Amino acid sequence: MDYLDEMEQFARANKIPVILRDTRAFLENLCKTEQPQNILEIGMAIGYSGSCMLRSCDAHLTCCEASLPNIALARENFEKLGLANRVSIVTGDCLRTLPTLRGRTFDLIFLDGPKGLYLEILDLLLPLLDKHGVLIADNVLFRGMVEDGQPILEPRFVHTVEVMRQFIDRLQHDKRFITKVHHIGDGLCEVRYRG
Ligand SMILES: C[S@@+](CC[C@H](N)C(=O)[O-])C[C@H]1O[C@@H](n2cnc3c(N)ncnc32)[C@H](O)[C@@H]1O
Repeated sequence: MDYLDEMEQFARANKIPVILRDTRAFLENLCKTEQPQNILEIGMAIGYSGSCMLRSCDAHLTCCEASLPNIALARENFEKLGLANRVSIVTGDCLRTLPTLRGRTFDLIFLDGPKGLYLEILDLLLPLLDKHGVLIADNVLFRGMVEDGQPILEPRFVHTVEVMRQFIDRLQHDKRFITKVHHIGDGLCEVRYRG
């Protein structure tokens, strides 16, 4: 079994949420075809999605992650895959660490961090997006509950569903960007500067 598949199995067995198979295929294809140089990921977990992206291009990956146990596991995984020298980990709450990246830009940003904070994170991320880059946000259709007319299955999901609706709406009404929502995995939002 490929080590990436082992990582996926470990994550699922330990209830660490990681990207779904078709999201992985989407990201790998994006990295192969667009060959980004500088990737930023918010929410690294054990480094599964980051490793999938790095194995599909020659980029450097900067990851923002708050969980120390996840960071320790991710470091081990990047080492095992021979990717450690292409990764920088920014430790801590991304709302606090993202402003420290100001002045840098990334040609691929993958947002997969705390779902309830996507709007606040978006404000911090957009200045970091290269004019020719792409932002991909995961879980924007949140278990099928975000689109019009869909029932919200449990009260604890109300906030996240509302955040995702506002996230998509804000981007679709922002004339600077072309925003697409893909029915891939748990819903992927793709954002690029117009022109
Ligand atoms: C869905 S998981 C990321 C999965 C990973 N992208 C993958 O597919 O392999 C979300 C991660 O965000 C991290 N996280 C949650 N809140 C955070 C915050 N405020 N700042 C930084 N990371 C956070 C969690 O610790 C968790 O590892």
